[in-house]
Amino acid sequence: SCSFPMGQTAQERGLSFVPECYKVEHLDRSKMDSETVDVPIIDLSGLGDPTQKSILVQEIGNACRCNGFFQVINHGISQKTLDGALSAASGFFRMPTQEKAKFMSNDVHKPVRYGTSLKDGVDKFQFWRVFLKHYAHPLMDWIGMWPDSPPDYREKMGEYAEATQKLAQTVFELIIESLGLGPKYLNTKLEEGMQVMAVNYYPPCPQPQLALSLPPHSDYGCLTIVLQNSHGLQILYSEDKSWRVVPVIKGALEVHVGNQLEVLSNGRYKSVVHRVTINSDKMRISIAGLHTLGMDVKMETAKEMVDEEHPMGYKESSFRDFLDFISKNDIGEGTSFLKTL
Ligand code: SIN
Ligand code: FE2
Repeated sequence: SCSFPMGQTAQERGLSFVPECYKVEHLDRSKMDSETVDVPIIDLSGLGDPTQKSILVQEIGNACRCNGFFQVINHGISQKTLDGALSAASGFFRMPTQEKAKFMSNDVHKPVRYGTSLKDGVDKFQFWRVFLKHYAHPLMDWIGMWPDSPPDYREKMGEYAEATQKLAQTVFELIIESLGLGPKYLNTKLEEGMQVMAVNYYPPCPQPQLALSLPPHSDYGCLTIVLQNSHGLQILYSEDKSWRVVPVIKGALEVHVGNQLEVLSNGRYKSVVHRVTINSDKMRISIAGLHTLGMDVKMETAKEMVDEEHPMGYKESSFRDFLDFISKNDIGEGTSFLKTL
């Protein structure tokens, strides 16, 4: 039931229903329409003032300890840059199939890759999603491999990639400070690391209750910055383990704690588990920039985070270890990369 031409969107496939291979087993349908989560809003406008900065550090620490996510406002990235990235994304997905198909691959090690679901047609369950993934930092190393159509794609997405890279480093610095960790853990790590952008397109679907756009997972990397044009993203709320809808606040960017931060902090900060549900009426676009240490740099737990009360809890790993893992495993079935000792 999944023998569609690879990489075509549900619309291109002429689907107005959810085929069997998209029907995730054990999907708790009653919980699909969840309540909206109370998202911690971090206002970065006070960053230049030492007193306000120390309050910010506390707020960010609380958010990371609590659910592992928050949103940032007054982050210095203009609405024009955000809108430009979203319009470049939708421009790309509107291109004819053969234009997008040039990038089509199930090889998760490819630096530029277009596809549907997670591994199209390979995984047990398919997900209602089309994506373009590309490395984005250092930008000059990768931008020449990005799609050059629509003609402004590289310029607009590149501008957004550079702006969010800077923001990620700023936020990472605040997070490191909130853990009480010294300069040796600071942001040269992300600056010398990678950004992997997942540009996601989620077509509307007349039977949104039957499937998911992305299965429950946590992100690899230190942190992820997400821009979204409408709702659909849900996080697993730590208190009662219920799914809560992440609100879309114009101009705000969503930040997720990733696996590498969980390892670094020895589990004090947990990577947030999230999923994406399908909209029945609206096309959704999101851009998730995953910020990780370099391809072969293993994230280790900070020794300051280990004591008698908090024994070493995690195995060290690199982004390549993660890629090798997802190339061999079906994370759509809930297999998690992050392993505690
Ligand atoms: C994700 O980062 O897993 C999903 C991004 C989104 O579509 O909101
Ligand atoms: Fe994610």
